[in-house]
Amino acid sequence: MGSLDLLSVLGLIPYPLVIVTAGDPDKPSERGGMVAAWLTRVSWDPPLLAVSISQKRFTYQLIKKYKGFAIHPVTSGMEEKVVDVFGSLSGRNADKFALLGVKPLRAKRIVAPILPNAPLTIECEYINEVQTGDHQLIIARVVDAYGSTTFKPLVYRRDVFAESPV
Ligand SMILES: Cc1cc2nc3c(=O)[nH]c(=O)nc-3n(C[C@H](O)[C@H](O)[C@H](O)COP(=O)(O)O)c2cc1C
Repeated sequence: MGSLDLLSVLGLIPYPLVIVTAGDPDKPSERGGMVAAWLTRVSWDPPLLAVSISQKRFTYQLIKKYKGFAIHPVTSGMEEKVVDVFGSLSGRNADKFALLGVKPLRAKRIVAPILPNAPLTIECEYINEVQTGDHQLIIARVVDAYGSTTFKPLVYRRDVFAESPV
C-alpha cells in the first residue's frame, strides 16, 4: 500500500473552530483576534487548554503582552464574515472588531476583548508555551466561562465547515 500525503491526511482530522481574541478592548490598535482550529484540552485539574499559534500572528503578540486570551466557538452564520475577517486579515493593519461593526466587551477575569454575539466565551490565562515546529503551543488556564451551553458549534475538516450534530 502506498503512503499517503501527510499534510492531506492531517486535514482529515476533525478540528474545532474558534475565534481567539486578545489585547485591550478599549484600544483599537492593541486588540485583535484570529480563527484557530488547533485547540485542545490538556488537563482536568487544573483546567488547561492548549492552542497552537504561529509567532507570525498579531494575536500571538497580544497574548504574550496581555497574558491571556478568550475563546469563542464559531456557530452557523458566523463562518462567512466573521471567519473571513478573523481568519485572513492581520490585526496589525486592521481593527477587525470595527470592520465587523462590533464593540468588544471587557473580559471579566483577564484583559481581552469579548465578542458580544458569540454563543459562549471562555476566558484563559496564559501559563507557558512550547515551540512546536513553526507554531507555539500556548498552554493556558481556564479562569471563567459564560454564555449558552446548548449551542451547536461548527467543526472544520478538509477545508469545510459543518455544524456539529450535538
Ligand atoms: C479555518 C482556519 C483555521 C486556522 N487555524 C489556525 C491555528 O490553529 N493557528 C494559527 O496560528 N493560525 C490559524 N489560522 C490562521 C489565522 O486565523 C490567520 O492567519 C489570521 O489572519 C491571523 O490574524 P492576526 O495576524 O491578526 O493574529 C486559521 C485560519 C483559518 C481560516
